[in-house]
Amino acid sequence: MAAKEKSLLPSGTIVPTHIGVIMDGNGRWAKKRGLPRKIGHREGAQTFRTITRHAKNLGVKYFTVYAFSTENWKRPADEVEALMDLFEKYLDEVRDFIEENIRICFIGDRTMLRPELQRKMKSVEEDSRDFDAMTLLIAINYGGRDEIVHAVKKLAKRVKEGSLSPDDINESVLENELYTAEIDGDIAPDVDLIIRPSGEQRLSNFMIWQSAYAEYYFTNILWPDFKPSDLEKAIIAYSDRNRRFGGV
Ligand code: FPP
Repeated sequence: MAAKEKSLLPSGTIVPTHIGVIMDGNGRWAKKRGLPRKIGHREGAQTFRTITRHAKNLGVKYFTVYAFSTENWKRPADEVEALMDLFEKYLDEVRDFIEENIRICFIGDRTMLRPELQRKMKSVEEDSRDFDAMTLLIAINYGGRDEIVHAVKKLAKRVKEGSLSPDDINESVLENELYTAEIDGDIAPDVDLIIRPSGEQRLSNFMIWQSAYAEYYFTNILWPDFKPSDLEKAIIAYSDRNRRFGGV
């Protein structure tokens, strides 16, 4: 088992229940070193591992990482293939997380992924379903708009079948059809804090429904260089903010 990173959180720090991370900057990290982009993704995958463990050790309950967006298919075929290879390799390795009592789930449209990858995703979900130290949500072929369309289609089918009246559709009914509600026996709560490294300050179609009241934390650090202490800094910044959820 990996040694626990020393936590620098001051006492009284409010740890967000649900953190989302847009793991950005792998390509630039590689370019700065004259390396192929896929090496940046490989380094990013190591960071993913370290930071996920640290999130659990700090008491985060839901941790969502944006691994591949519905728009990422536009990348060169060899980069997409390298990313899919990396996910498959990691699905073997994420089993380490199972030893740490971390439940693993996937959000996104998996029907477009390689059958072998889909099979491994299902098996990891099944094998980790009883673990409860933290739920890790890996967003693969995920898009926030696609997620809402997917939910609306499900509601439309129920209306057509006659099991749902349009007048009964409200936020909670729609929410129950999002990918984040498809975790067996559980619904991931709204995301509290979204971290985006690499200097970009946008959401890029990540959890657009679930982030309605999220706090954002941006840093110029490229994802492969993101350290456990950077996660702690983001949590401390979150803890210092005053969330009013539309109230006063
Ligand atoms: C964005 O950086 C990163 C991605 C599209 C891929 C993220 C994937 C990983 C970190 C691999 C590990 C994940 C798992 C679940 C094993 P970018 O390529 O857009 O970087 P750039 O903006 O510098 O070009």
